Amino acid sequence: MHETSDNFTVVIFGANSDLAARKLYPSLYELTQWGHLPVQYRIIGVGRAVLTHEEFRAQVFEKLLTLSTDTIFDEARFKMFCSGLYYVNLDFTESAGYQNLYKEVMNVSSEAGLCDHLLFYLATPPDLAPVIVRNLNQAGLGGKKESCSGWRKIIVEKPYGRNLQTARELNAVIGEVFREDQIFRIDHYLGKEPVQNIMVFRFSNGIVEPLWTRNYIANVEITIAEDFGIRDRGAFYEEAGLLRDILQNHALQLLAAVAMEPPVDLSADSVRDEKAKVLRSIRPFLPDNAEDSIVLGQYEGYRAEKNVASDSTVETYAAVKFYLDNWRWKDVPFFVKAGKNLAETATRIVITFKCPPQNYFGPAASCSYIANQVILCIQPEETIALRFGAKRPGEAVITDPVYMKFDYKTSFTEAGMTPYHRLLLDAIAGEQMNFIRQDSVEHSWAIIDAIRDAVQGKLPEIYPIHSNGPDRAARIYS
Ligand code: BG6
Repeated sequence: MHETSDNFTVVIFGANSDLAARKLYPSLYELTQWGHLPVQYRIIGVGRAVLTHEEFRAQVFEKLLTLSTDTIFDEARFKMFCSGLYYVNLDFTESAGYQNLYKEVMNVSSEAGLCDHLLFYLATPPDLAPVIVRNLNQAGLGGKKESCSGWRKIIVEKPYGRNLQTARELNAVIGEVFREDQIFRIDHYLGKEPVQNIMVFRFSNGIVEPLWTRNYIANVEITIAEDFGIRDRGAFYEEAGLLRDILQNHALQLLAAVAMEPPVDLSADSVRDEKAKVLRSIRPFLPDNAEDSIVLGQYEGYRAEKNVASDSTVETYAAVKFYLDNWRWKDVPFFVKAGKNLAETATRIVITFKCPPQNYFGPAASCSYIANQVILCIQPEETIALRFGAKRPGEAVITDPVYMKFDYKTSFTEAGMTPYHRLLLDAIAGEQMNFIRQDSVEHSWAIIDAIRDAVQGKLPEIYPIHSNGPDRAARIYS
């Protein structure tokens, strides 16, 4: 469902957060400059700090100076954009303050001659979401109370709950105030161009999909590696750990995109139905199969990070072997590895095909050396490569692996949008395909809960920084 993007107000809770400064204001600013958003829309920042509208505008202006990546650096344009910003000081947990927010929303809307199409953005810690949503409702700003024929939508940042139970509770609370078609649970990975391209690669190429099954594929490996640590997010990491921070959302969404069946059509729900089915089909983890399927690690020095307990057992690395109990993927292992402070920063998906039945060209060309692979690099490179065997020049018949490669940078000249550009535009337009639906959120939490239960009481293995992670991770390949 696409809706008009005219005349709306974005209300950002957590207006002074790092996320708002780094992603939201620059993205909204750039979308405005590039002509994707109407000139009339307004932004209301909501935060705990006591600021006047002017102080808030000055603060965002300063941030834009350093954080906007727009190719045209123009202070006058920054100023113009900031003049459309307003600020409401609010203790998120105090219902009384929401009346002020209501008044400001109405003032801003009528001042600009707008009808109250409202997009709420919760850039706040996850535990605040229920109280904010309830208070919005009480103040007459809930989604189900539409007035003036305006639409109301809410974007909720990850982590969406911290386990299945809290995710269900959150879904229930938000569901009382907003309909599912008004709720946009954001996972910025789904806004990355190469992630959106997975579906296009699979379903627009007649030669790909027939091979994309257990009949031809030996295994799938998904890696999300970062060569830096938790930065200044010690408190968050102590609560979340890598399983909640990366596996529950980014990694499982990549897995779903690789493994999903072709959807009936491209409607948001058809696509999301197929992804939910993948998550539902993940084989349960039990303590007796956990040993060889789940390895957690913690990088050396994590415990000395700011706001981290000196005896912390929180994981900063996970390697998990998944199986999908469904017709297409039965018994094909999906190896998922993600971690902080590893040797490289890269996100990639490697699909390894089975070897030909007869190996004529051995012994140099062992199967694993030349097995066909499709390598989908999500970042930092945005490429797709096909690995195949070729005869090494010379007298002997020796096969070597070679690559055919597509690179976004060289094949397309269009300026790319960032995930936040794309997802903000989608939310404004009411397009939900790249947002996580309630059922998928709950399925993925059930998986993470099962992983956590299966390894309960086991300490993560300490691994050296800038390494490939814990030695034990090799086990998942056995
Ligand atoms: C975030 C995680 O969701 O994604 C971070 O909280 C992680 O821990 C980040 O570093 C990775 O995203 P990107 O797009 O910067 O690679």
